[in-house]
Amino acid sequence: MKRRIEARYMAIAMVSLLVLSVMAGCSSSTKSEAEAAKENEKQPLIVQGPMPIEAEKFASKLSDVKEEKSGSFVFYKGTLDGYPVIVTKTGKGMENTAAATAVAIEKYDPIAIINQGTSGGHDPDLHVFDIVLGERTVNLGSLKTPNKDEGEGISPKEWIPMDLMASEGSAGEDPDAENIRYFEGDKTLLKAAHAVKDTYTKGKIVDGTIGSADVWNNEVDRINWFHENFGSSVEEMEGAAGAQIAKAYDVPFLGIRVLSNNKVNDGAYNPETAEANQEYVYEVVKEYLTMIEEK
Ligand code: 5AD
Repeated sequence: MKRRIEARYMAIAMVSLLVLSVMAGCSSSTKSEAEAAKENEKQPLIVQGPMPIEAEKFASKLSDVKEEKSGSFVFYKGTLDGYPVIVTKTGKGMENTAAATAVAIEKYDPIAIINQGTSGGHDPDLHVFDIVLGERTVNLGSLKTPNKDEGEGISPKEWIPMDLMASEGSAGEDPDAENIRYFEGDKTLLKAAHAVKDTYTKGKIVDGTIGSADVWNNEVDRINWFHENFGSSVEEMEGAAGAQIAKAYDVPFLGIRVLSNNKVNDGAYNPETAEANQEYVYEVVKEYLTMIEEK
């Protein structure tokens, strides 16, 4: 009888030991799950590109990519050196970019947004393959015309800049709205971009003003007018839309644009610039992630 009780105690002790060791195993696997959860908690960095040639190259450099769609916007969710990065193919133009930016901010709570792609030069000192870092971004389609009666014609050189963010009142009637609204590029993103300038060998990299509108200007006098009056270095169709929405949510933003063409110095369109820009932006992203991880 006594022996049977002893045997039962032995069995209970062994089972307890087994349970304890399984629990120990569980707790170490819980730890790594916790670590993984912490990784997932990191706010992702978003890199936007309008066209397939401006997004897919970057997306292919990410690890563990999962594709998500919202409307027509494609989000390639992956990691870069273990940090979450989401490449967005926004589609072209201001509307697509504004919507894709708002959706991304609401869905993914990004730490920062880089909008990148091709552009056309406004500055005669810039050539195809040169890159402009958007120290400022400006909407070149936000304009008010002067008053003219029927038959008096149109005078695009007299058009007045219009700041849609000046007040909640009518921009057409408000004299305070007759100003150019610039969106500032984020200082930390700019710092990261400066730090890796030397990795880019296909052209020069300058700080400048990125002008955006759903317009492709081929009239050199009109391009010169924007260059002189708005200080635009390049034009494209997305940057200012992304910048405006990022500012609305207080998310750091930077435009990075390579010249694929420059009408003012006969720079012929070269689509290969899109890939070159993504290679440079990849270096910027790595540098930025190192900077914020060190903080
Ligand atoms: N004017 C306007 N957009 C341009 N793009 C490249 N060059 C120019 C230019 N000269 C980009 C826009 C848009 C697509 C048409 O190409 O940002 O995504």
